[in-house]
Amino acid sequence: MYGCIRSLRRSWNLVQQVQKLPSLARCINTTTPFPEFGNMTDLRSHQDLYRFSLTDPQEFWCRLARTRLKWDKDFTTTFDSNLREGKIAWFLDGKLNAAVNCVDRHLPIKGDQVALIWERDEPGTQEYYTYRQLADMVGQIGNVLRNSGVSKGDRVAIYLPMAPITIATMLACARIGAIHSVVFAGFSSDALASRIQDAKAETVVTADQGVRGGKVVELKRAVDDAVSRCPTVKRVFVYQRTEADVPMGKQDILLQKAMNAESPCCEPVSMESEDTLFMLYTSGSTGKPKGITHSTAGYLLYTTTTFKHVFDYKDGEKFGCVADIGWITGHSYALYGPLSNGGTTLLFESTPTYPNPGRYWEMVERLQLNHIYLAPTSLRLLLKSGDSWALNYDLSSLRKLGCVGEPLNHEAWEWYYRVIGKERCDIIDTWWQTETGGICISPRPSTPGAHIEPAMPMRPFFGIDPVLVDHDGQEVTEEDAHGALCIRSIWPGMARTIYGDHKRFIDTYLNPVPGMYYTGDGAHRHPGGALQITGRMDDVLNVSGHRLGSAEVEDVLDDHPAIAESAVVGFPHDVKGEGIFAFVVRKDDAVESEQEIADNLRKKVKKEIASYAQPDQILFTPGLPWTRSGKIMRRILRKVAANETEDLGDVTTLANPSVVAAIVERRAMLQ
Ligand code: WT7
Repeated sequence: MYGCIRSLRRSWNLVQQVQKLPSLARCINTTTPFPEFGNMTDLRSHQDLYRFSLTDPQEFWCRLARTRLKWDKDFTTTFDSNLREGKIAWFLDGKLNAAVNCVDRHLPIKGDQVALIWERDEPGTQEYYTYRQLADMVGQIGNVLRNSGVSKGDRVAIYLPMAPITIATMLACARIGAIHSVVFAGFSSDALASRIQDAKAETVVTADQGVRGGKVVELKRAVDDAVSRCPTVKRVFVYQRTEADVPMGKQDILLQKAMNAESPCCEPVSMESEDTLFMLYTSGSTGKPKGITHSTAGYLLYTTTTFKHVFDYKDGEKFGCVADIGWITGHSYALYGPLSNGGTTLLFESTPTYPNPGRYWEMVERLQLNHIYLAPTSLRLLLKSGDSWALNYDLSSLRKLGCVGEPLNHEAWEWYYRVIGKERCDIIDTWWQTETGGICISPRPSTPGAHIEPAMPMRPFFGIDPVLVDHDGQEVTEEDAHGALCIRSIWPGMARTIYGDHKRFIDTYLNPVPGMYYTGDGAHRHPGGALQITGRMDDVLNVSGHRLGSAEVEDVLDDHPAIAESAVVGFPHDVKGEGIFAFVVRKDDAVESEQEIADNLRKKVKKEIASYAQPDQILFTPGLPWTRSGKIMRRILRKVAANETEDLGDVTTLANPSVVAAIVERRAMLQ
């Protein structure tokens, strides 16, 4: 093992020496504040660089790719893409490995630096993992997977808690060219099963149990249940998080035991730039969740660049993204962004309120975090508990305060800025999506010290050209305007397809406005150009920053024997951002009481999707407002759910207008 690392080190030193020459030349000639663009004299300001990123994206991204990633083989073409044709390809003919870029590359200088801080559920029991320890774990798991038959292009479903083993498993997949498909460990066994089936995964990696907020989560039990319906699965690796005595079946293998038998030296597979690095399921407005796929080179370059520049990450800092790895935020800013930069990243296993609402702030002081990146919903929850939890701790290590997932309202922004940041930290509200791979709109980077407007992400990142579009698909050119948010440029981090359904990818994102990427969000462009995101324009809900299709919940409700039809909409919720309001029509012959049915519906949603998907309100109505063309008029239901029943607008196009009065009447009885 040591021989292998030594020789790796030797070859790295050589690479480093060779790389020193051009970088020295760059230092001497520096005429711009941007090292990657050293000899380009006209790039003097942030504005110049942004403009350049749009006028000459080939040159812009080519320079970044060559300076920021380690290639096995250089690329010949920066991109060959046409959004109208659904063709997206970057860094053609190039070869690289993401795990090498995230781990091996740092070993010569940073082998003993902490790569991962594992903030375990119980406060004060954190563990630290250096780059060298991470490298060994990745190598061993890579060998375990490879020797059990996993090869390039195979899908590996990962259903694990937030832990170093999870990061190492994802990187091990990347190392051997397998595609990881992480399924949030809060999803039910049904949700896990449908994701395993869609990806036709043969391998699952899980844990005996998870621990969150002092409670045990039965992960292995959920996997057993899921796998019993997944004939493709050939092997299940079990990491022992709690060492509970869980039943082990024929295809189950203890992960640590298998790792112990393997060498940490694992030959990485040199991947084509466009080879899939991973897939991740996310909800759409219709149908089942879709497996969004990301490429190796483009995704890695985009996360590495956005991480460095949006948060102004400096070497040696501790970055605390508290999102779970089951979401894209965890992928891009707990793993790939920080590790590709040789940074130190946090893995947060707990909840914002365990054991009390001071958890984040106590952790910031104890671990001396320099950045925290969280969801507005937790800020809203924590600010309700009063300032004293935050004031109890020394938060002076913090430099940048990030957030993502849903609109950050003014009250939460002010609290974050004053109580947490003591008016000395930038608030970085970042807008992006599973599909965009990384941050697309955020107040930074910008001209140093540029004003940050509360409660909006404001400015496009390099290479992002945001456009507002009206109902007819025409660009809205006025400065102060509302519209559907689209992106006219291409950028390396954008998703490449929906696993197994490229047509759906094109129909969802590229066809609505030809030549642009359609985000599904509405936005308000303020005078001066700052962008504020107003929320989804489709039937996607955003519950505590978790994306959920109303159709997914409706499918579960409709399937209940006592339910004839249902419609689910969001309504304003002061902690979750959006709550779930279900209108259900009971079958005439149903015998259970409304209360019994409602309880069963909630249980059913929890079992088939996840607990966060359970409706906050369930209203039994005699019917739903169908239009004559056979669509539910959700506009009306949204108003009823929000209790804005005075002005419901025009209902004359309904097939059954009288149902509206009945729904309003029942809604009034709910309070
Ligand atoms: C949707 C994407 C990207 C990581 C987390 C969510 C909403 C995201 C913001 C923001 C307002 C936001 C959008 C978007 N969203 N960030 N800063 N302000 N809304 O990823 O699950 O793919 O959800 O989250 O509606 O479309 P996701």
